[in-house]
Amino acid sequence: MRSFGWLTAWLLFGLSPSSTTAFSSLRVKELYAGWDDQAPYRPDVSETSVHVISWSPRAFVIRNLLSDMECTHIAEQAQVRMRRSTVVSNEDGSSVLSDYRTSYGTFIRRGSTPVVQAVEDRVAWLTRAPVINQEAMQVLRYGRGQFYKPHTDSLSDDSPRMATVLLYLSDPELGGETAFPQATEWADPAMPEKFGPFSECVKSNVAFKPRRGDALLFWSVQPDGKTLDPFSEHEGCPVLQGVKWTGTVWVHTSPHRMEEFNATTGRFNPPGPGETDDPGFCVDAHASCEEWASKGECKRNASYMTGHGNQVGQCRRACGVCEPCAEGDRDCYNRNRESQGYLVYDPQELLEGGERRRAQEAADEAEL
Ligand SMILES: *[C@@H]1O[C@H](CO)[C@@H](O)[C@H](O)[C@H]1NC(C)=O
Ligand SMILES: *[C@@H]1O[C@H](CO)[C@@H](O)[C@H](O)[C@H]1NC(C)=O
Repeated sequence: MRSFGWLTAWLLFGLSPSSTTAFSSLRVKELYAGWDDQAPYRPDVSETSVHVISWSPRAFVIRNLLSDMECTHIAEQAQVRMRRSTVVSNEDGSSVLSDYRTSYGTFIRRGSTPVVQAVEDRVAWLTRAPVINQEAMQVLRYGRGQFYKPHTDSLSDDSPRMATVLLYLSDPELGGETAFPQATEWADPAMPEKFGPFSECVKSNVAFKPRRGDALLFWSVQPDGKTLDPFSEHEGCPVLQGVKWTGTVWVHTSPHRMEEFNATTGRFNPPGPGETDDPGFCVDAHASCEEWASKGECKRNASYMTGHGNQVGQCRRACGVCEPCAEGDRDCYNRNRESQGYLVYDPQELLEGGERRRAQEAADEAEL
């Protein structure tokens, strides 16, 4: 395990840029061997490799961190509650719809399935910070033309988001790169060619082109753990062709939302009311919904009644925000989702583009 500690020190503190070559294509299979013998679920991580792409910010590409099955699982877990994304308003701190960010998104509760747990453990391994320091994974879907403007992740409190791990769950065919507009220097000048080609949005800056199963890790703070690294500013370039699905894990310097963890059971708490409901079904979750609706609660207590953020409304039927569907009426179900701002899921879009990419890679390899 000696090289494991070494890699850690190197990832965290960037000890010596001259060590780039030695580690740039390190096979980490050995490092995973026996990493959790008790886990009922054993991922295949035999093809994983780590590449440093930039020292300002400190950014790393991890090829094949997730298997195809894991990518699909995460998207399936999230899709039920995927909704038009909101951002935190500058005025009053509330969540607002914005053209700043035009994707669909939701959060997956920590530890919610063995697969999610295994992925979170792997992110913990990668960042050398325990799972409790992670925020719940945010899953986002960007369709054609959708993007996320340049921003930094590190919030100014006493436990900033020190690192971000972006997991790529699909293969958009064009665009959708994660780009660092302040970062002009690749760790190795040959990298743009190796990791490209990129869309125009990237200019000649450091960037990563989404690839299903790959991950991007970057640090938003300096090694002191609190000073923002301005080079960590990043953007989601517009998707030009295909669909981009990502899972984002923000890692804090200290434990995050300890109250979600039950020390007695050693597990994160199960989902609360409204967290697992499917807004495509037009139902009331409470016997008093009709009564509350008649008293004006649909407007007065809209987050509870009709839904808000990650919370699915508890009285959607009584408030008339959906239509009751006959059993098996998929169109009706989809209309309900759409009218309430939820995603109409198409599992095929996770795979589109992948066939073409793999064929291209095989052709490139044959050429060498
Ligand atoms: C933790 O889990 C135990 C066992 O299920 C339960 O009795 C207890 O109420 C939980 N504690 C909290 C704070 O939720
Ligand atoms: C909304 O309604 C629920 C259920 O009656 C209640 O628990 C909650 O306190 C209400 N919230 C507000 C802001 O009125």
